Amino acid sequence: MGIAVVETPTKPFAGQKPGTSGLRKRVPEFQQQNYTENFVQAILDAGLGSKKKGSQLVVGGDGRFLSMEATNVIIKIAAANGLSRLIVGQNGFLSTPALSNLIRKGHEGRVVDGGIILTASHNPGGPKGDFGIKFNCENGGPAPDQVTDAIYQITTKIDKYLIAKDLECDFTQVGRYEYDIEGVGHFVVDVIDSVTEYINLMQKIFDFPKIKSLLAGELTGRKLRVLLDSMHGATGPYISTILVDHLGADPSDLLRTVPKPDFGGGHPDPNLTYAKTLVERLHTGEHDLGAAFDGDGDRNMILGKNGFFVCPSDSLAVIADNIDYIPYFKTRKVAGFARSMPTAGAVDLVAKAKGLQVYETPTGWKYFGNLMDAGRIAICGEESFGTGSDHIREKDGVWALLAWLQILADRKESVEEIVTKHWQKYGRNVFTRYDYENVDAAGANLLMTFLEAQLPAFVGRDFSANGVTYKVAVADNFQYTDPVDGSVATKQGLRIVFEDGSRLVFRLSGTGSAGATIRLYVDSYIPSNDTSRLLLPAHELLKPLVLIALDTCKMEQFTNRKAPTVIT
Ligand code: G6P
Ligand code: ZN
Repeated sequence: MGIAVVETPTKPFAGQKPGTSGLRKRVPEFQQQNYTENFVQAILDAGLGSKKKGSQLVVGGDGRFLSMEATNVIIKIAAANGLSRLIVGQNGFLSTPALSNLIRKGHEGRVVDGGIILTASHNPGGPKGDFGIKFNCENGGPAPDQVTDAIYQITTKIDKYLIAKDLECDFTQVGRYEYDIEGVGHFVVDVIDSVTEYINLMQKIFDFPKIKSLLAGELTGRKLRVLLDSMHGATGPYISTILVDHLGADPSDLLRTVPKPDFGGGHPDPNLTYAKTLVERLHTGEHDLGAAFDGDGDRNMILGKNGFFVCPSDSLAVIADNIDYIPYFKTRKVAGFARSMPTAGAVDLVAKAKGLQVYETPTGWKYFGNLMDAGRIAICGEESFGTGSDHIREKDGVWALLAWLQILADRKESVEEIVTKHWQKYGRNVFTRYDYENVDAAGANLLMTFLEAQLPAFVGRDFSANGVTYKVAVADNFQYTDPVDGSVATKQGLRIVFEDGSRLVFRLSGTGSAGATIRLYVDSYIPSNDTSRLLLPAHELLKPLVLIALDTCKMEQFTNRKAPTVIT
């Protein structure tokens, strides 16, 4: 006799609306009875639609607290809903880029219909931390707005879900597990090794032997030492295998590579605030390149010797400019690049010089998917420490590190030299982001409404601070029309663009789990011939614009905060 399907009555929970990147809430919220079950049922119904019966999905996540329980629930609900197969990372573990690859690769000759990623990315984990569930489509990328809206609609009306309650699957062991589901059919769980396929992919994209020679000192006569911080997140096993086993790095140069359900109590976000230890260790000057990665392995921060910070907008532009050094792109047509709207425009200048297209999308990796599927872009990135290419449909932290190493192997210069020469060639897009995390949502909304109401009157007006004056050319709420399918995303952030190309952007984050997070982005262009200012520290160059921004939006008045939580 097969395993019974139990139709379980349930009631909707308010607020199961996926944000920039899936549904993210505090762990106790997910622990409410039926909360996870409702959302998983909604994903299967809206995400798979008429394909649901017989379809197959990949499941995994960054191993944060609640991952095992959620994986179990997904297996039981998928079985009861007539899916034919789940491909599950061992222990429910897969980095986000690895999972995207598994979807795209297909499984045993059959198309994979999507995936479910269990992560809250860079947000802290543990019993009081954050958990998240995200649905990715058949192309390996995050579900577009139409799909997440449909998921949300179902969560507002749901009155039952189907579950094979008695199905037990030991997904801690690699292997094939098969079940008969009563009245439904055959169901398979393939528990796979979490790292192998991803490493195969990286070996196809990059020249591993050449990077190995670089690290060993065979290319320059000097060893290149890296210092890498996985922040107890998902990149640990991938980084250890690639860097130590394949590229010969010293294991003691890899930090926090053991994934932990609470990220060791840390905040797994690779930026100058939360990866401070890495920055400090680089200041000793023993290492030539540093990198840190976030909880689920899609974000990266790149640093040079002595902690030289590579702004993510610059990292994107440098990789784009040096794309020809990456073997994967030698055999493909590169049609263009893309960046999210708040990201500084450095990559635009590279595209222009190469005669390629550049696209400006709303914040969120999902907006790059259509452009990649249509062959319009090869490389894209965001200021939020995301860089990636069309090898998958997520950003990819380990890929970004390997891209830098591949470029270093050819150029045989330091990280700082490469970035400085980039500015000398193209000019410098100086950038900073101020985050006001977990502020009162009402105050944050008022700030945005207050500012938006004034935008039309700003056009043509002068703003001054510290003796510098900027004239407003454009002020609007950013709207994006997808050039591939014509879909329109409105209200994607308030922009004040000045005549010299400098910009202020104000947005409410879509990835928080409590209160609101206000992000203020400042982008200012210094032409390459302005040699007296080109190499000055970013905070000095941006001071007047920051003062103008804070004053214009009345930040302190609306948020009661004198200073941001994080500056990147
Ligand atoms: C995630 C998304 C990115 C996005 C970032 C910040 O990492 O994948 O695409 O840029 O969050 O989003 P937020 O809405 O918090 O600014
Ligand atoms: Zn992430």
